[in-house]
Amino acid sequence: MGFNIAIDGPAGAGKSTIAKKAAADLGFIYVDTGAMYRALALYFIRNGIDGADEEAIKNALTQISVTLQYSGGTQQVLLNGENVSDLIRTEEVSRMTSVTSALGCVREKLLSLQQDMAAAHDVIMDGRDIGTNVLPNADIKIYLTASVAERARRRYLEQKQKGGTSSLEEIEKDIIERDTRDKNRAIAPLRRAEDAVYLDTSDMNIDEVAAEIERLYREKIRS
Ligand code: DC
Repeated sequence: MGFNIAIDGPAGAGKSTIAKKAAADLGFIYVDTGAMYRALALYFIRNGIDGADEEAIKNALTQISVTLQYSGGTQQVLLNGENVSDLIRTEEVSRMTSVTSALGCVREKLLSLQQDMAAAHDVIMDGRDIGTNVLPNADIKIYLTASVAERARRRYLEQKQKGGTSSLEEIEKDIIERDTRDKNRAIAPLRRAEDAVYLDTSDMNIDEVAAEIERLYREKIRS
């Protein structure tokens, strides 16, 4: 079994940036589970499958394989062998992912892949249900969050840099909607595990949060 650090939290809390940095510093593999859900959603979009049509999604899942590869420490997600890492960050994919990741058949498809990664390697894995569902025995669990306003501001700046044209208000509305869906779904909703360390990053920078995770790691291996 590898050393497992689980990071959960809402969209825009900084999970991936921080997990990537802490993984590089600690020599761990960073597993971005959101990317796996996004790859499935891309398949549904490409094949004209309605996110609400569970039967069609169940059938489609039998045709899909999602695998992870690492090049230079960076995770690449492959959809039926095609590297789709650069195609899964659009707003369209985000919206579809938020809907289809609520389905039990979709979550089941990815669960053992995620658990196998954690069994074989030292990992920092981020998502929504890692500490509660995927790795309930993780060595360290962190619940990372920030205020809605701060998360919207971060997403706004990020998309503007990439040439996006959404307004701050639109992004904030989208974040609230996605939070509501992720927290209220019947299966594996986003919530803080009882034994997770709660970190509000509204007033923390990336280095401060990564340093806190590394401190928790050193404390754990000493104990
Ligand atoms: O972390 P992200 O923004 O890439 O996640 C995209 C969507 O996938 C988001 O709506 C929540 C969902 N997701 C999930 O349900 N469970 C996970 N472990 C990771 C992501």
